[in-house]
Amino acid sequence: MQGSSGVAQPVTMAEDNPRPLKFSSRGVGFGMETGDGEASYARNSATVQGGMLRDTGHHLTQAVHLMSLPFESQPIRIADFGCSVGANTLSWADLTTQSVLESYRTKASLATNSIPEIQYFFCDIPSNDFNTLFRDLDSKGETRPFFSAAVAGSFHDRLFPKGSLHIAISTWSVQWMSKIPEAVRDVSSPAYNKGRVWVDGGSPVVAEAYAQVHRQDLLSFFAHRAYELAPGGLLFVTCPCRAEPGRPEAQTRGEFQKASPFSGMLEDSWAELVAEVTILLHAAFGAITCHKYRSNSFQS
Ligand SMILES: C[S@@+](CC[C@H](N)C(=O)[O-])C[C@H]1O[C@@H](n2cnc3c(N)ncnc32)[C@H](O)[C@@H]1O
Repeated sequence: MQGSSGVAQPVTMAEDNPRPLKFSSRGVGFGMETGDGEASYARNSATVQGGMLRDTGHHLTQAVHLMSLPFESQPIRIADFGCSVGANTLSWADLTTQSVLESYRTKASLATNSIPEIQYFFCDIPSNDFNTLFRDLDSKGETRPFFSAAVAGSFHDRLFPKGSLHIAISTWSVQWMSKIPEAVRDVSSPAYNKGRVWVDGGSPVVAEAYAQVHRQDLLSFFAHRAYELAPGGLLFVTCPCRAEPGRPEAQTRGEFQKASPFSGMLEDSWAELVAEVTILLHAAFGAITCHKYRSNSFQS
């Protein structure tokens, strides 16, 4: 792997036997908008993130049916990593548990054992709105066919005992990075990403700096889940991707931008915010302070 400095750097796997590191600071602070107000994740995730469920949910059901579900170990333990809050969270929980129950009902006739109990873990960073999630879980007085629990911690750390999970899912979450690459904020680095808050439109070294953090993040995610899953367990992951293979910075404008406008929107929002603050500062303190603020805003 090439580092942001252009020097080859090894990708390091997490330890073979990673110890639990709950409540680490990694990933903390990047949670979704809480509650169920107008700007909340719960009210704004049905279209795009919900589309992922409509498009890929059947793959999960299919994968569960292909599993050889254990008849001897009880309960069946399922965890959703990066569960967030809102309709998608509950729909993924319903789909996963229903698929397990269906599969058992089909196969139970072949075995003497009965349908097992299910324990479902909602995992996200500590600032996730678990209160709204658990309030919604039985807001309509519905009884769901599983026992639920919250696990607060980063999915870049180990969150469960060895071999304890039968199914792990993660939907629209592993694209979240554990940190901003240091080089893109370092004015002395060739990967300094002046004037931008994201990889799009950046130079190849900027793209590589982001890619390096992502590789490390994905490696730690997979290494920890491999440790937590029981033999024969299922890991189901969905996340948004770029439309074409190739280097990210080559796909960030033009046709790609039209097809996937998210990152452009981030840049535009940041530029608007800076412009608004600039105007306010201009009104209050005059042009010199305003110019200074604008320069600083692009350095942090
Ligand atoms: C866009 S939401 C996806 C929610 C839901 N799974 C869905 O399909 O709608 C991404 C979630 O990942 C969580 N997340 C981001 N980084 C995380 C980390 N390191 N550990 C645990 N959760 C994380 C965020 O807090 C957020 O709730």
